[in-house]
Amino acid sequence: MSTPQTESKRNAGYQAAGMVEDGMVVGLGTGSTVFFAMERLGERIRRDGLSIAGVPTSYQAAIRAREYGIPLTSLDEHPEIDIAIDGADQVDPAGNLIKGRGAALLREKCVADAARRVIIVVDPTKMVETFDALVPVEVLPFASTSVSRRLSLLGAVPTMREGVKKDGPVVTDNGNFILDCSFGTIGSPRDLEAKIAAIPGALECGLFTAYGEKITVIVGEEKGCRVV
Ligand code: A5P
Repeated sequence: MSTPQTESKRNAGYQAAGMVEDGMVVGLGTGSTVFFAMERLGERIRRDGLSIAGVPTSYQAAIRAREYGIPLTSLDEHPEIDIAIDGADQVDPAGNLIKGRGAALLREKCVADAARRVIIVVDPTKMVETFDALVPVEVLPFASTSVSRRLSLLGAVPTMREGVKKDGPVVTDNGNFILDCSFGTIGSPRDLEAKIAAIPGALECGLFTAYGEKITVIVGEEKGCRVV
């Protein structure tokens, strides 16, 4: 069903797909907004003969890309990516992100890091002054209790993410668990990202604070979009 939010996501995704040029290696993020970009890329491949190769950030992104006819490659084959398109859960005025509601944050951060340019596609509800969303942390199952304890010492209330269609913890595409961490309002996302990264067994967190300079944010509206 089409809603104003769906139209916003579609407009953002389609705009991002228009920024992809022939011959590019494209990072393919995960989530409902970036899938609109993939839909449009598939159309451009079929209709205009656009030639690209996509690096998917999850099994779900790979499956969607195949459905849309986007040829796939890997980060091993292309450790440098021309452009990555991805969604976000929150975006602040400095271009910092919270990602990972779809549990794909670890590969998404690898792809964002490898990309020369990162296009973030969101609807207006994702734009915030200060982060207050849950910060997902992908953790090594062996260390999930010790990581949870360390996150609590940083002020988090961590909750193991559990499956909707599966009993027990969500297992990521990399075989790990996710702790969703409530920190309340986050004053300094960069400091918090660094502190979480220092915990052995915390493999990655959903705070993305290092890529502001190469990020373009496309905010889809019900009619059109604006580029931040
Ligand atoms: C995937 O793990 C996430 O980082 C998504 O990119 C993020 O949750 C945005 O998803 P939507 O576009 O579905 O809101």
